[in-house]
Amino acid sequence: MSVSESQYVIDDRETPRFRVHRSALVEPDVLEQERRLIFDRSWLFVGHESEVQQPHDFRTRKVGGRPIILTRHTDGSVQVFINSCPHRGMQIETRSEGSGRFLKCFYHGWSFDTGGTLVALPDEDSYGPDFDRHNLCLARPPKVEAYRGFIFLAWTDDIEDLETSLGGVLDILDLFADQSEEGMRVIGGTHLYAAKANWKLLAENSYDGYHAMTTHHRYLAMLKESGKDLSKVFDKSGGPALGWNLGNGHAVIGGADGSHAQNTGLGRDLPTQAALDAQVARRDRFAAKYGEDWANRMFASRNMVVFPNLAIIDLIMGITIRTFYPVSPDYMEVTAWSLQPSDDDPTLRDMRQENFLTFWGPAGLATPDDIEALERCQQGFAAYEHAPWSDISRGMVRDKPNFADELQMRVFWREWDRRMTGTEHPAETPVIPRSGRVAWPYADIEPSSIGVD
Ligand code: FES
Ligand SMILES: [Fe+2]
Repeated sequence: MSVSESQYVIDDRETPRFRVHRSALVEPDVLEQERRLIFDRSWLFVGHESEVQQPHDFRTRKVGGRPIILTRHTDGSVQVFINSCPHRGMQIETRSEGSGRFLKCFYHGWSFDTGGTLVALPDEDSYGPDFDRHNLCLARPPKVEAYRGFIFLAWTDDIEDLETSLGGVLDILDLFADQSEEGMRVIGGTHLYAAKANWKLLAENSYDGYHAMTTHHRYLAMLKESGKDLSKVFDKSGGPALGWNLGNGHAVIGGADGSHAQNTGLGRDLPTQAALDAQVARRDRFAAKYGEDWANRMFASRNMVVFPNLAIIDLIMGITIRTFYPVSPDYMEVTAWSLQPSDDDPTLRDMRQENFLTFWGPAGLATPDDIEALERCQQGFAAYEHAPWSDISRGMVRDKPNFADELQMRVFWREWDRRMTGTEHPAETPVIPRSGRVAWPYADIEPSSIGVD
């Protein structure tokens, strides 16, 4: 094995050692290139179809820095438009969500239906007898595709189809989507917050198993106080938890053994016997429907980052979807939602919703600690010319890196560097392709060989 390197990434398989130059996290030129070479050439997450449940529901947000409207049209189809009036450019809809047959522009009053067609405008006669309203419909992003309710767009036509691009990610999306017989849905509010840190630090943090014991020490102490037996979370009794390369820069860390349905991962224990029973019953149902191997994966945790800026984290105690986008090299905006089974037991739903607020919320017990860590990293980077390298080597010595190793971040950075500099860094572990509802490869690995310190 050799060394592959660029000005940003040194991937040394001999020593082994993996380093990232901090200029990649600081310099404005890098961000300009990222917008062009990464964000404008990737599938970006728009939202979940359950956010526009009924015809004429809409949501607005920015995706890849550009304003969009997500609607459910009269015919039930989900549509994505650019939120900019074909007349003179005003954002058609300024509310973040709502419902209505027509989207009316505040500036001169042009009205569009939820399929994007211009249906009315004041003084239409002024445009003459040949005026065709159909030439002035809402513009659409070049590509919009969805997989099992997860909607993505691309700001280019020149991109492979969504499913090919997602590859092994599709199995993980199945692991979320299969958790309800009536459909998963985004419920509750939206978390909107910002961090004075480079966006890639949040990609890293979203599947960083190594930091939990230290950064979240106070949260874990609180759990212990509440009577939770933390040894069950960290002593490997939950079975092997590994890092996996899903291809194209996507990666996940997660467990393979979800045989203990009562396990709430990093959440507080379930409060009542009824809730425990409901959770066990859910697992039994899914095991009967999909088989034990798949139920084992469903009821184990997972943190996935879909390159470049979508994280979906399932810690059993709740699922959060998170996207983030850079405003400047040292400032990002974050949006997060809670994804839940629509047919959940009420106690389990309350548990998930409470964890979305009190664990993942911007003022929760975990997220502020993470943000503090990322912002202090960014402050440290002010001296990057004199302390230029970050080390992301943990677990390179292992054939099967575990969830507390840094394989998943190296997968991200190798793809990042390929897009930015054209440097090809060979994969470190096999890419796990889409395999269907089967056990993880290496699911039979001995838990005792997982080196969580
Ligand atoms: S800009 Fe929208 S109607 Fe004029
Ligand atoms: Fe964290």
